[in-house]
Amino acid sequence: MLVLGIESSCDETAAAVVENGRRVLSNIIATSLEEHKLYGGVVPEIASRRHAESISGVVSEALSQANCSIDDIDAIAVTYAPGLIGSLLVGVNFAKGLALATDKSLVPVHHLRGHIASNYIDSALEPEFLCLVVSGGHSHIVLVKDYTEIEVIGKTRDDAAGEALDKAGRAMGLAYPGGVSIDKLSKEGNENAFSFPHPKVSGSIYDYSFSGLKTAVINTLHNAQQKNEEINTADLAASFQKAVVDCLLEKVELAITNTGAKQLVIAGGVSANSKLRGEAKKLCDKLGISLSIPELKYCGDNAAMIASQGYFEYLKGNTANESLNAYATMPIDKIFF
Ligand code: KG4
Ligand code: ZN
Repeated sequence: MLVLGIESSCDETAAAVVENGRRVLSNIIATSLEEHKLYGGVVPEIASRRHAESISGVVSEALSQANCSIDDIDAIAVTYAPGLIGSLLVGVNFAKGLALATDKSLVPVHHLRGHIASNYIDSALEPEFLCLVVSGGHSHIVLVKDYTEIEVIGKTRDDAAGEALDKAGRAMGLAYPGGVSIDKLSKEGNENAFSFPHPKVSGSIYDYSFSGLKTAVINTLHNAQQKNEEINTADLAASFQKAVVDCLLEKVELAITNTGAKQLVIAGGVSANSKLRGEAKKLCDKLGISLSIPELKYCGDNAAMIASQGYFEYLKGNTANESLNAYATMPIDKIFF
């Protein structure tokens, strides 16, 4: 079965053709990132305009690189939530129009479920597994009981891990996105130069909090400025990255121990982080469980992951009609459309 995936939830306009949820025939991404860099973050209005301009060409290119026409496609999967509403609407409306005109099934896909599905690509991975989903807007620990059945075990109470990295990077004067810059710069720094507190979160033992950690970095920078002291940014970046990764994996280890999970999966933009990838491997080796992390090209936003999850949602009968809407927020476990 061939699924055409369409993704436009943030600043990437993407389309892909995937066979049976696992084999990628094409994966096209156009991004407006360079324009957003000027402003230090994604400007929603610019992102939606660029989506509207690019989507038609990106979808045509995905079909052409997959060596197929729209007639060969069995279903059209599209990210409908969560994300920037103006951006999501471009993909959703394009997919609705295409599905209606070609009489194909329309499959709404939750963006974070898509990130999880990036682990099915070129892999034999099957649920059940424990998954750490870490992106620019979300940080969750979930139990993936089946391809479309997800239970939330823990989540952030405030900033997402990626958001904290981006904001800390910005305060350090690094290029957007801060997560990518911090990863790069950390390689030249001493991660034990600064020590940051691990936040205590009341309530669920699996919940995260990153805003305190982010404020601690900003305070360190301000204190140094006021005293006219030089700060080694590479050391600060490495120490902050270590604190974020340690916090993420502390709760993951607790969840693995308490649920008896046999497989750990990591997904979302932050899964590209080299420190997180390395430490997760050490943790899984220590616990004697398997680890799956997407190939780097499938860590960030892409449409192959949407087509992959779309395949499994389609098999479950989760299809929509022309009344499909886009939603800026949507829980990962109880989806509706
Ligand atoms: O999943 P994603 O591409 O978009 C959202 O759905 O949010 O995630 C973007 C986030 C950004 O916060 C970015 O800084 C972070 O992923 N990111 C990284 C790395 N690559 C991307 N964070 C740390 N290290 C990286 N190598
Ligand atoms: Zn994403």
